[in-house]
Amino acid sequence: MNILVLGSGGREHTFAWKISQSPLCNSLFVAPGNSGTLEIATNLPIAVTDFEAIKAEVLKNNIKLIIVGPEDPLVQGIHDFFLNDEALKDIKVIGPQKAAAELEGSKEFAKEFMMRHNIPTAAYQSFTPENLEDGYKFLETLNAPYVLKADGLAAGKGVLILNDLDDAKRELKEMLVDSKFGSASAKVVIEEFLDGIELSCFVLTDGKDYKILPTAKDYKRIGEGDTGLNTGGMGAVSPVPFATEDFLNKIENQIVKPTIEGLKKDNLPYVGFVFIGLIKVGDDPKVIEYNVRMGDPETEVVLPRLKTDLVEIFKAMGNQTLKDITLKIDERAATTIMLVSGGYPEAYEKGKEIYGLDTVTDSIPFHAGARLEDGKTVTSGGRVMAITSFGQTYEEAIKKSYQSIDKLCFDKMYYRKDIGFDL
Ligand code: AMP
Ligand code: GLY
Repeated sequence: MNILVLGSGGREHTFAWKISQSPLCNSLFVAPGNSGTLEIATNLPIAVTDFEAIKAEVLKNNIKLIIVGPEDPLVQGIHDFFLNDEALKDIKVIGPQKAAAELEGSKEFAKEFMMRHNIPTAAYQSFTPENLEDGYKFLETLNAPYVLKADGLAAGKGVLILNDLDDAKRELKEMLVDSKFGSASAKVVIEEFLDGIELSCFVLTDGKDYKILPTAKDYKRIGEGDTGLNTGGMGAVSPVPFATEDFLNKIENQIVKPTIEGLKKDNLPYVGFVFIGLIKVGDDPKVIEYNVRMGDPETEVVLPRLKTDLVEIFKAMGNQTLKDITLKIDERAATTIMLVSGGYPEAYEKGKEIYGLDTVTDSIPFHAGARLEDGKTVTSGGRVMAITSFGQTYEEAIKKSYQSIDKLCFDKMYYRKDIGFDL
C-alpha cells in the first residue's frame, strides 16, 4: 500500500520512521516533510491545507492511506473533502471529520461536549464582545489565577493565565474587542484554574472501539524549571511515572469511555487519534483540552514504544476493526529532548548547519525544523530536532539523550537541561 503522511515536524518524521518499518508499506510519501523524512520517504513540496494539490498527488501516486499530522487540515475539513470526492472517497484518512475536529478547533465546543457527557473538567463560561461586562462580573466571582482561552485555533498561544484581576479584565477586552488573537478570540472561554501536574493520554479510535496508547508528559515552557514562554514542547517522557494503574483506570472510565461514547451519541464520526490533555488534581484526572491529532514531541516517545505494526493498526481503523488489534508496548521508558534555534519561541535565525548527526548511535534523532540544502542538513524552524532514547528507567533514557546531544551542534543551539526534573 502507498501511504502519505501530511506535515513536516518531528511528529511526522516519527510517523514516517514507524510506517517505513512495516512490510505493508510499499511507497511512502510525506508532504511537505523535512530532511529526516527525505531519508526514508519521498517528500512532496505541497502545503498541508492545499487539498487540490494533495488530491493530485494522491491520484498520481496511487496513495491509499493518509495520516494527517497537524490539526489545521482536519479543522478545515480534509477528511470531508476526501469523502465528498468520487475519486477519493475510498481512500482511508486517519484524522476526524470537520465536525469532530471542532473538539480542538473550538474550546467552547469542547467544553459543551464535556458538560453533555459528564466528563470532568474545569468550570467555565464563554463570552463574546456583546457581553464583555458579564465577563468582567464572572472574573470577579473567581479566585486568581484567571484562565482565559481564545475559542479558536491560535497556534498554541491562545491561553492566558493571569494572577491579577485587573490584568485579566484588560486581556479579556483585548481578546474580545481588539482581536488580540484575530478571529480566534472573537469568543473567549474563562475557566476555573486547576492546580496539579499535567500529563497526556492518547487514544486511537475507529469510531466504534478504542485503544489507549502509552501516556506521556511534555515540557511546554522554554526555560528550565518550567519558566518563560510557552513553546510547542521542549521534551517529553513516556510512560508518566506518577500515572499508577489506579489512576489510569480512572482516566479510562471517567474520561476515555465517555469521550468515545459521546462522539457516537453526538453523531460525530471519528477515525483517528484523540489526544487528551489532562491534569491530576489530588487523585483525580480532569480534562484541560482535547486535540484531534498526536502531540509533538509526545509522538517521538509514544510511537517508538509501540511494537505493533502501525500500518496494520491504521488499516484496522479504516476498516472499523480496531477491536481485533492488540497493542504491544515496549516496557522500557522513552524520552526525547528538543533542540531549538536560539531565540525560539520568539525571533530566531535559520539556515544553520547541523553538525554531528552521523556520530549519534545511542539515540534516534527525529528531524523537525531541518532541511537538506546543498547536501548539508540545516535548520529551518524553531524546533529543530528531537533526540529520543530508551532506558530501563526514564533517568537512564534522559541521560542517553543528553550524551547524544553532546555530539551535536549548530550555531545558537538551545535545549532544556532539566527534562524530567519534576517526576
Ligand atoms: P491548552 O491550550 O488548553 O492546553 O492550555 C495551555 C496550557 O495552559 C495547558 O497546558 C495548561 O498548562 C494551562 N491551562 C489550561 N487550562 C488550565 C486550567 N483550567 N487550569 C490550569 N492550567 C490550565
Ligand atoms: N506538545 C503539545 C502539542 O502537541 O499540542
